[in-house]
Amino acid sequence: MSTGFNVAIAGATGAVGTELIRLLEEREFPVRQLKLLASEKSVGKTLEFKGERIPVELLSNDSFRGIDLVLFSAGATRSKQFAGSAVESGAVVIDNSSAFRMDEEVPLVIPEINSADISSQRGIIANPNCTTIIALMALYPLHRTFGVRRVIASSYQAVSGAGARAINELSAQSNAHLRSERVEPEVFPHPIAFNVLPQVDVFSETGYTKEEIKFVNESRKIMHHPALRASITCVRVPVFRAHSVAVHAEFERPVSVESARDALAKFPGLEVVDNPGAKAYPTPLNCAGKNNCEVGRIRIDSAFDNGLAFWVCGDQLLKGAALNAVQIAEELFRG
Ligand SMILES: NC(=O)c1ccc[n+]([C@@H]2O[C@H](COP(=O)([O-])OP(=O)(O)OC[C@H]3O[C@@H](n4cnc5c(N)ncnc54)[C@H](OP(=O)(O)O)[C@@H]3O)[C@@H](O)[C@H]2O)c1
Repeated sequence: MSTGFNVAIAGATGAVGTELIRLLEEREFPVRQLKLLASEKSVGKTLEFKGERIPVELLSNDSFRGIDLVLFSAGATRSKQFAGSAVESGAVVIDNSSAFRMDEEVPLVIPEINSADISSQRGIIANPNCTTIIALMALYPLHRTFGVRRVIASSYQAVSGAGARAINELSAQSNAHLRSERVEPEVFPHPIAFNVLPQVDVFSETGYTKEEIKFVNESRKIMHHPALRASITCVRVPVFRAHSVAVHAEFERPVSVESARDALAKFPGLEVVDNPGAKAYPTPLNCAGKNNCEVGRIRIDSAFDNGLAFWVCGDQLLKGAALNAVQIAEELFRG
């Protein structure tokens, strides 16, 4: 009998789903059988895994018989609708959506930071928001060293963070703009080509968007730091892939650039690219397609006491979503 796990991907045809399929193969995750699930629209399509074409099936409550692990990336509505059936069938769910992240019984995990939380899972483990993951990959090692108190940040978020349709929207609008034509926005509320939009997700009554609120709440939960004070402005930029975050952080203890760089350089999954004299710093274009996040522009912050400013970039389809989910699965089934 072949060994390994029966794995299902819900949302297999999407921007995150296609990366999940590729990563399971690339990282040699022990897959015995792979089931690909999506909407009615995709039934009849096939996707390649290890040289085999696998048919896409309709996601339903009956999809999970015999499945050990379900990677959900089909949006929060589908996670809420179908994750319960997956757990009842005996599978563990790793969910990329926001559906369960702040549920007290659901661990919210970045393996490099809080992999120990996985052991408390009762069937569902949540993957954090992509901007939160990328910012914390640099903030957490500094927190461990100096103790973070307050954070002010701005994000520069790629269009692929809004899914496969958003990638097409940037392409179509860019081509149209260069021909002096106009394409009406469908995914974003305004044209995204040659523009920046200070809105990611919908607004709440506080004036912050949901994306901005997620950053604060999820950072507290992942770092086990409920007293953290944080404020972020999330901005969509005409970049295809990889988010960037400019972070200004105030710490409990005195900081130095040298000890910050040392803490960052030792952190797994993070590379320091920081040589201003040689114009070396992270850019989304360099981070697109890379598993590791990159941090640079590390300097003493001029507004905070014990403050550091830095710039962190990471591929949000990889570390911000699919890679983080597969790393959680690897931890879960280790041994
Ligand atoms: N994109 C990112 O960088 C990112 C990062 C972190 C987390 N996430 C989260 O990951 C999830 C997927 O995002 P994405 O960017 O991959 O979106 P996407 O490219 O729009 O893909 C959505 C996927 O969900 C499937 N789906 C949609 N409606 C469905 C339905 N009614 N029943 C079954 N399947 C359905 C789609 O199938 P069809 O192709 O058949 O429509 C597709 O496979 C979202 O929850 C998102 O918030 C995304």
